[in-house]
Amino acid sequence: MQASYWDYLKLDRLLSLQDGLEGDGDVVLADEMHFIVVHQVYELWFKLVLRCLRDARDALAAPRVSEETVPAVVHQLRRVNTILRSGVQHWDVVETLTPQDFLAFRDKLSPASGFQSFQMREFEILMGMDEADRIQYGKVAPLDHLLDPAHAGTEAGRMVGRRITAARAERSLLAALNDWLYRAPIQGSTPNDPADRRVVARWVDEYLERHEGHLAEGFERLAAALPGVDSRARFADVRQAARAFLEGTGIPDADRPRVVRVRAAALFIESYRALPLLAWPRLLVDLVVEMEELVVLWRNRHARMVERVIGRRVGTGGSGGVDYLDKTASYRIFRDLWAVRTVLLPRDRLPALENPTFYGFSAD
Ligand code: HEM
Repeated sequence: MQASYWDYLKLDRLLSLQDGLEGDGDVVLADEMHFIVVHQVYELWFKLVLRCLRDARDALAAPRVSEETVPAVVHQLRRVNTILRSGVQHWDVVETLTPQDFLAFRDKLSPASGFQSFQMREFEILMGMDEADRIQYGKVAPLDHLLDPAHAGTEAGRMVGRRITAARAERSLLAALNDWLYRAPIQGSTPNDPADRRVVARWVDEYLERHEGHLAEGFERLAAALPGVDSRARFADVRQAARAFLEGTGIPDADRPRVVRVRAAALFIESYRALPLLAWPRLLVDLVVEMEELVVLWRNRHARMVERVIGRRVGTGGSGGVDYLDKTASYRIFRDLWAVRTVLLPRDRLPALENPTFYGFSAD
């Protein structure tokens, strides 16, 4: 049998899925159909995002990531980010729903809510969100809402529970990224080299020394220009935070050497990003940061849309609505990559690069 466009895309099924709770497309208001379609479009994009993220994670999680693998990871993440960027724009379409248009059918949705978007939760889990960071509302932890035995009465409800449980058992992108960063060469040295710890510690010490010099100059300049602003304590905090970050203060002894090396590698890649050997790694790191930025923009844009459409009402899922959504915009998963930006030095202040030929630069 020849393939047809409609069979290949299963359009008969796809286009019969906008019938609402009534199961009859003819009685669904045009505004409600809009509401259903925009949600379904987002969920379809989430489906693809999850697929790309898993592929990226699998490639990065391999015990040895070859030079050819990093471009493949970059390719997947670039697609994720392009989808997310267009998802941020997509809120414009959602906003064509006026507040009263929405009120015409909103009550029947309760207690259903985007809060139950299990694909969004899978996305967060797969990126590596720490469950302890989640904003709580009500007595039940956010993920437990989805694992509630009350949902087990339907096949869809059981499927949600299975998917969340399975995602939690998977390796996250954050964990795979950290494994990869851990093995990254720093000053030409890798963890297998017997002198690695010494090489990394020397680079970190020199970096911190230069960073402190740079901060001291910044403070003097500001104090002279703005004598009325006492920024001494602020600079002291930044100085202390930089040291704590790069020396792994507060990290349990058993984990500290690994965490210190991961953070140093992230800073090394960002600092010497012009080196030919670091061209693909820095692209990968840039895309991860961009991905998280786009998720935050998505959350912000969703919250602004919600504020415009329902004001400060309680959400259909029972949260504080906009207040709750604004809090979720503070989530950060790839914290080390963000922290690197705070401690980064200008190029001419960096410690001298050892082994330039290793990184693809000629020695002269
Ligand atoms: C008129 C349109 C919309 C309104 C008024 C709205 C409102 C809300 C509110 C108030 C919440 C907080 C939870 C609650 O109490 O219900 C929420 C959560 C959420 N909504 Fe929407 N929403 C809308 C459209 C969408 C669309 C199109 C999507 C796309 C999938 C979406 C995805 C989500 C997600 C993923 C959450 C959970 C956020 C989190 O907990 O991190 N929403 N929404």
